[in-house]
Amino acid sequence: YGDASQKIDYVFKVVLIGDSAVGKSQILSRYARNEFSLDSKATIGVEFQTRTMVIQHKSVKAQIWDTAGQERYRAVTSAYYRGAVGAMLVYDITKRQTFDHIPRWLEELRSHADKNIVIILIGNKTDLEDQRAVPTEDAKEFAQKEELFFLETSALEATNVEEAFLTVLTEIF
Ligand code: GTP
Ligand code: MG
Repeated sequence: YGDASQKIDYVFKVVLIGDSAVGKSQILSRYARNEFSLDSKATIGVEFQTRTMVIQHKSVKAQIWDTAGQERYRAVTSAYYRGAVGAMLVYDITKRQTFDHIPRWLEELRSHADKNIVIILIGNKTDLEDQRAVPTEDAKEFAQKEELFFLETSALEATNVEEAFLTVLTEIF
């Protein structure tokens, strides 16, 4: 976890997007502070947290931006995407609709962000396997077609959260 005295070689802005309640804020909280809350409140506006990691002997400060999935709570879109070099497109594996909306989020992302932005598709809540509504294969196929990285995570169990951020940060690097 971030050491403030460290020399920073790079600062990378990464944005989280996806429908409300898919777990964007809890993925961020798990990554930045190793904390998780089951009674997480919907995000209003924009929040961000940072964490510094050493990648290939360089210290990389990830500045992760998190906004509301709910339209009425969202901040100005262009400002949110400005300068972002990575994006995490999150859906909930137990809610088919959140996966069906991914093409819309991708369209918004591609129309506002830099064309070289590194994107990872994330199916969150794998701890709820018994309620799964999105087969891993469907998501994998979609990710391949759209040339996105793909991982399934659980913010609750801390599964693949670190790996998801590392995938994006290493690729940006
Ligand atoms: P908005 O801010 O409204 O866009 O939602 P969000 O995507 O930030 O969702 P948030 O992180 O607030 O999580 C929504 C709910 O899902 C909360 O009750 C979380 O505790 C729960 N949640 C998040 N991640 C997981 C997970 O991996 N497993 C389980 N079981 N619940 C999760
Ligand atoms: Mg949130």
